[in-house]
Amino acid sequence: MIERKIQVLPNPAAVAEAAARRVVDAAQRSIAANGIFRLGLSGGQTPRPLYQLLATPAFAEQINWELVEVYFADERCVPPQSQQSNYAMAEATLLEHVPVPAGQVYRIRGEIDPQEAAVEYGKMLRSRFGVEGLDLLILGMGADGHTASLFPGSAALDETEHRCVAHYVEQISAWRITLSRWFINRSEEVIVLVTGADKAPTLQQVLEADPDPQRFPIAAVAPESAQMTWFLDAAAAGMG
Ligand code: 6PG
Repeated sequence: MIERKIQVLPNPAAVAEAAARRVVDAAQRSIAANGIFRLGLSGGQTPRPLYQLLATPAFAEQINWELVEVYFADERCVPPQSQQSNYAMAEATLLEHVPVPAGQVYRIRGEIDPQEAAVEYGKMLRSRFGVEGLDLLILGMGADGHTASLFPGSAALDETEHRCVAHYVEQISAWRITLSRWFINRSEEVIVLVTGADKAPTLQQVLEADPDPQRFPIAAVAPESAQMTWFLDAAAAGMG
């Protein structure tokens, strides 16, 4: 069983700051140990302030971006210029402001057939990672307990062979491409950012009970390394 580390911060800005410090620490540690830092990013609204903070000189200058590789937890099936694209969000808030080499940003191609894009991404991950996983993966949680694009009841939760999968998500009537649960759980470290009172009821069930991952997919996240930290604001923690 993984030890649950939870940090409750007063507000979303404080969540971003604590998480940014964690990203810097993880980057410095990975680079010192292996000469590379393999970072996985999520989309959604919650990580925006974190990405924006990481792009400021105070944080950006603490990371050797030449030695960073960027991957994505999931993607919507839209072109990379779309406002809905997770890549576009990460690009606008972080990647275009830091000297990460363009060839080291591995985006999921949301503009092609989703199954093809998932196979392509999965093969790339297999060839680059072998049996390993990301050094740090940043995840969010939806009010329904989904994470990355693993939604409640999703068959992708049972995937045990592929690192990346595409599936039609009934709840949002759209295709999504997502890292699989088992590849997520190969990460050296996972941080989960959750802010806002609308997520408090789900969060309470996820953290206080031992929920079924089919009902709350975030509960399927349990990295083999046991390094997982929740960064919550007071509202999400039910203390707002
Ligand atoms: C995405 C994310 C997704 C996100 C949750 C929470 O592509 O949307 O990767 O898993 O983390 O949906 O979204 P918010 O942060 O917008 O609440």
